[in-house]
Amino acid sequence: MNNRMNRFESNAGGWTGPGGPQDVFYSRDDDWPLPRIVRGDGIYLWDDSGERYIDVSSGPIASNLGHNNRRIIEAMKAQAERLSFSYCRVSRTDENVALAQALAERAGPGFERAFMVSGGSEAIDMAIKFARQLAWSRSEKKRTRLFSLLPSYHGGTLASIALSGDLAVEEIFEDMAVMPERLPAPLTYRVPDGLTQDQNEDRIAEMFANRVGEVGPETCLALFMEPVGGLASGANVLSGRFLAMMRRICDQNGILMVFDEVMSGAGRTGRFMTAQYYPDAQPDVVILAKGIGAGYAPLGIMMAPAKLVDPLAASTGFNYGHTANANPIACAVGIAAIEEMEARNLIANALDVGDYLKSRLQSLMPGCPIIGDVRGKGLLIAAEIVADRDSRESLPAEAKAPDTIRRMALDHGLSLYARRTNNGLFGDWLMISPPLITTKAEVDEMTERLMATLNDFMDELSRRNVRVAS
Ligand SMILES: Cc1ncc(COP(=O)(O)O)c(C=O)c1O
Repeated sequence: MNNRMNRFESNAGGWTGPGGPQDVFYSRDDDWPLPRIVRGDGIYLWDDSGERYIDVSSGPIASNLGHNNRRIIEAMKAQAERLSFSYCRVSRTDENVALAQALAERAGPGFERAFMVSGGSEAIDMAIKFARQLAWSRSEKKRTRLFSLLPSYHGGTLASIALSGDLAVEEIFEDMAVMPERLPAPLTYRVPDGLTQDQNEDRIAEMFANRVGEVGPETCLALFMEPVGGLASGANVLSGRFLAMMRRICDQNGILMVFDEVMSGAGRTGRFMTAQYYPDAQPDVVILAKGIGAGYAPLGIMMAPAKLVDPLAASTGFNYGHTANANPIACAVGIAAIEEMEARNLIANALDVGDYLKSRLQSLMPGCPIIGDVRGKGLLIAAEIVADRDSRESLPAEAKAPDTIRRMALDHGLSLYARRTNNGLFGDWLMISPPLITTKAEVDEMTERLMATLNDFMDELSRRNVRVAS
């Protein structure tokens, strides 16, 4: 290891003065400091001592266009000078209209309307309210029951954190929030013993149909799924077959099907929306966030069909909102992000470079027994870290695999997003999901540095006598 860590360690131990950065709130279990990032350009970040890091996970899979993107910055500046705020409940703005049109044109038929908020959690919250308001307007007032997959992540507001499939969080909030019905996510790397992937999917679809029958369809409101998962499942990809079965059950029972594409949308998986891969399983509502603001502005979108929105507006209306909804600067960023993706062909790049990255990560596997699985779609990719690839056994919790690897990666010039979810019940993984602008040469550099990081981690495991199957 070089001596970057020594420098970080000199500021360890929290913050004693007034104020402090956001991380003063976070768990101190690991008690190691974060680099102080002062500059970004392309896929790189620099700290205050000039050390460079590759932004391997696009922050939290948000910086789809990398840093210092001139088109976005110029659009923000121009918008701020022209009009920085006008409240959407009392006015219309050109930027709101232009972004809604740009989104609807890319999303295609069935997604003509766009409700704009400040991020993914807010947009998920809006979708819950939208589903409820629709049911209410149709006098289906008993429809309140939500369904989600375990594991999954849908956000941090009280409603969206409850909707998320994370048992560690459930314990804390279950008495305060509306808890959903949970269905097992069909995890491709962890198919229950004795079942094929298809049989597992059939089993889950059957559980869904049975549960709806048990509680009564008239009480069921909406099903939320991430078509390609994020941090909660490590980029687990749902099959078209599974989604089509879930679609049929939703149709038979009047349940709204929502795709949470906060991570997977906005081009990351090689389509503008991942939903576009599944013609037989079109969702009613799609949630976009992260990549559509690309880290330059807080922006979340609920894409919904005119055939649901327009009658609703004509009856009860959907009259919920926040001060920053359809904010002109955020809208200008969204428009510029779409223009940039198209001008540089970045959605196709996500697919091409994503395939290359996946194959490079797979090529590390023979020399690196702790990589159990590499999965994902486009540039939404995760590598699962295990003690034994064949049995799929995870490393013991004390190894703190995601956090330790994240820290070690800094020494190799990688800024990596990894943390344990669900207390590691479903495994540990690293999100290797760089910006959509990443080149194959940059992938080569990234994978070499990752291999060096994982070698350090394996050395550490052997120093601590943690068994790894070779
Ligand atoms: C799949 C998914 N849904 C929802 C959210 C919440 O989005 P935000 O953090 O923008 O509120 C996230 C954030 O990580 C996410 O990955």
